[in-house]
Amino acid sequence: MMPQSNEIFTLSIESSCDDTSAAILCNDRVLSNIVASQKIHELYGGVVPELASRAHQQNIVAVVDVAIKQAGISKKQLSAIAYTNGPGLMGSLLVGTSFAKTLSLSLDIPLLQVNHMQAHVAAHYIDNKPQFPFLCLTVSGGHTQIVLVKDYLEMEVIGHTIDDAVGEAFDKAAKVMNLPYPGGPLVDKYAQLGNASKYSFPTPARNGLNYTFSGVKTAFLNFVQKGKQANPNFLEDELHDISASYQQHLIHYLLKVFLMASDEYGIKELAIAGGVSANSGLRKALGQLSEQGYTTHIPKFEYCTDNAAMIGIVGYYKFLNQDFASIDLMPFTRGGALL
Ligand code: KG4
Ligand code: ZN
Repeated sequence: MMPQSNEIFTLSIESSCDDTSAAILCNDRVLSNIVASQKIHELYGGVVPELASRAHQQNIVAVVDVAIKQAGISKKQLSAIAYTNGPGLMGSLLVGTSFAKTLSLSLDIPLLQVNHMQAHVAAHYIDNKPQFPFLCLTVSGGHTQIVLVKDYLEMEVIGHTIDDAVGEAFDKAAKVMNLPYPGGPLVDKYAQLGNASKYSFPTPARNGLNYTFSGVKTAFLNFVQKGKQANPNFLEDELHDISASYQQHLIHYLLKVFLMASDEYGIKELAIAGGVSANSGLRKALGQLSEQGYTTHIPKFEYCTDNAAMIGIVGYYKFLNQDFASIDLMPFTRGGALL
């Protein structure tokens, strides 16, 4: 079962939500990272779980095939298979899990189960090695967490959202502005053309190192409705300034609590991860902190949103620890080791 050389080839599979992805890593080096995004959900303004699992079934064989071909290896060279075990949508997770288990049995190689949220943080180990301990602000469509990272796989959530994720705060505001799903990247695009100081939104009261986004979501809806009453073309006329102001508000709030965590824990090594870390405003704001004595880590775009390379890097470190998964392990939709 164990590879003879010191080269560990990992096939990794990510299928927790609406992206089908497969990657090949040689040790901690990414040889290929293929992502098939599911466009079908745009028609419905959000991810439809049943359609997501069907699309994963349609995509997974081809995506894995391309990942292996692009890496220039053969299936026989694989040392292990890493897959996302949760959190995520059950139907979607089951497609990746079943595929990984079947291939592991047929090739007689070990399975490595990976927590999706841990993988977002671990994306930082691919091309860059932050110093431990560091703090990671993981911001995605389903989660908002401040994670204390003590070692490669030793992580503790020290703050989190008590309701919506910041990705939802972006996507729902975009929906109110009649932008297609997922709206986060579009808010980012229009924000770059607008005046971020034009409008203001309420900042929630401090709640330890936790976040809340449900209030600002409602405030945004009321703000747009009021604006439309005064001017029927409010959205068309003000799209850029609204996007810029709302985005800036979210970024200030995210970083305010993140810096409180930095202060409380005495850690100045800061990273961002997850889909919202692709946001240009957040990347810039974090980068600027390096002028104030912080060391900042911003992932490459391809490792921000869901991808299998980040699953593979966790798999690699688990392989080194011989931390293999049992074939009868079931996926989970919420919670897990990281919340
Ligand atoms: O990590 P991810 O790909 O999937 C989850 O695990 O949820 O994150 C997806 C989220 C969506 O809410 C999407 O709108 C948001 O990341 N997102 C962005 C940007 N790119 C992706 N939000 C703001 N600005 C962006 N540039
Ligand atoms: Zn994710």
